[in-house]
Amino acid sequence: MQIQPPVINIFEKAVRKAGKYLLRDFGEIENLQIQSKGLGDFVTNADLKTEQILIDTLKYYYPEATYITEESGKIIGNEEMIVIDPIDGTTNFIHGIPLVGIVIAKIINEEITDGVIYNPILDDFFWASKGKGSWCNNNRLRVSKRQDIIDCIIGTGIPHMDRIYPQYLKEIDAITKNCAGLRRMGAASIDLAYVAAGKLDAYWERNLNIWDVSAGVLLVKEAGGRVSQPNGESWDIHSKDILVSNSNIHEIIQEKLEII
Ligand code: IPD
Ligand code: CA
Ligand code: CA
Repeated sequence: MQIQPPVINIFEKAVRKAGKYLLRDFGEIENLQIQSKGLGDFVTNADLKTEQILIDTLKYYYPEATYITEESGKIIGNEEMIVIDPIDGTTNFIHGIPLVGIVIAKIINEEITDGVIYNPILDDFFWASKGKGSWCNNNRLRVSKRQDIIDCIIGTGIPHMDRIYPQYLKEIDAITKNCAGLRRMGAASIDLAYVAAGKLDAYWERNLNIWDVSAGVLLVKEAGGRVSQPNGESWDIHSKDILVSNSNIHEIIQEKLEII
């Protein structure tokens, strides 16, 4: 078993603390106060409270860092960047679907070095650190070995409301008729963690933010997977669109998305 680096211990402390609170709220969904940030884009009092717990806990250990958070925006500090998504999968949460992730990642010089994703409902704690592998509840994660896309289950994010983009139905068509099934988890962090865990064989989505994908990208890489943009160009922390896979089926998916 890999010993967790100190930074992961700190992130774990923060997400488990926030997770306790979130778990309580999950059991009392009817009392949630829900506001709309835009069409089909919700924020609850649980998102705000969770984010505050994370920031308060992390600030004790990293008082000088820059924080990039989904709900409170950017808190400017030094070159050490900490990225937070307090609930990835808010719509799932509101509907009582247990696929959510509390996400924290550390980025230095544009490189993601450490990340955690915690699903307090399933009690799944994922972490990855550069060079130290990907882990979930003390088990080492590896991407799947499937070679033939026809045997593969592929995750995606379906655009909704004003996020619709024109080629998406064609993309679904091109992928779904060649694979064993598509999945829409409703939480990008969980899609990425599940690719790292070998449950999904690949995943693509467009129009994401760094807090959705930061920790998950590192999990996939450290589990032996490949990360790029859907057109095969390299992915960096400013990219909005992403394709990840077990690496065996990367090019075939890329080709299918590209010829549209
Ligand atoms: C969303 C989820 C979802 C993805 C959306 C994200 P949120 O994050 O990751 O799976 O399709 O694009 O915005 O709003 O639940 O933190
Ligand atoms: Ca998110
Ligand atoms: Ca969120």
